[in-house]
Amino acid sequence: MLKIVLAPDPVLRKVCDPLAQVDSHHQKLIKEMFETMYEANGVGLAAPQVGINKRIFIIDAGVREEVRNPIAMINPIITNLKKSTSIYEEGCLSFPSHYAELERPDEITVEYLDENNKKQKLVTKDFTSRVIQHELDHINGILFVDHLSRLKRDVIIRKMKKHKKELNKSDEK
Ligand code: NI
Repeated sequence: MLKIVLAPDPVLRKVCDPLAQVDSHHQKLIKEMFETMYEANGVGLAAPQVGINKRIFIIDAGVREEVRNPIAMINPIITNLKKSTSIYEEGCLSFPSHYAELERPDEITVEYLDENNKKQKLVTKDFTSRVIQHELDHINGILFVDHLSRLKRDVIIRKMKKHKKELNKSDEK
């Protein structure tokens, strides 16, 4: 199992590097990321959240309906965004037990490489689109709290700092 990096952490703030191509090393990483995400009951996980600054993320927006729909996206690019937006509550595995409502475009078109180096294109809306936009932010060093007011963001970051301190203390015992 991979260790999920908790915010705040400089590794979550780097703009990640693209892959020239997907090799067996990356395929192994993707497999381990899926295991880690399912174990943590997440719907998305980006490589920087396991300490790797590469343009890779995985999603499974099907978990909610208890039907798995795993998708790995490598070097993803949003090629179209709908103007209409909606407000939806988001969380993040790097911010356990913190949630906030934020606004994002409803529908996106995303082009990416899959885990077998095949070019893919996906037009998606609603929950899947939301998860992809959240994960795409991660590989650009952007976190969901960056979409909130400064006040709300500072409150969550402060609580996370405290939480991490407490975790470190209990590790030392
Ligand atoms: Ni996240």
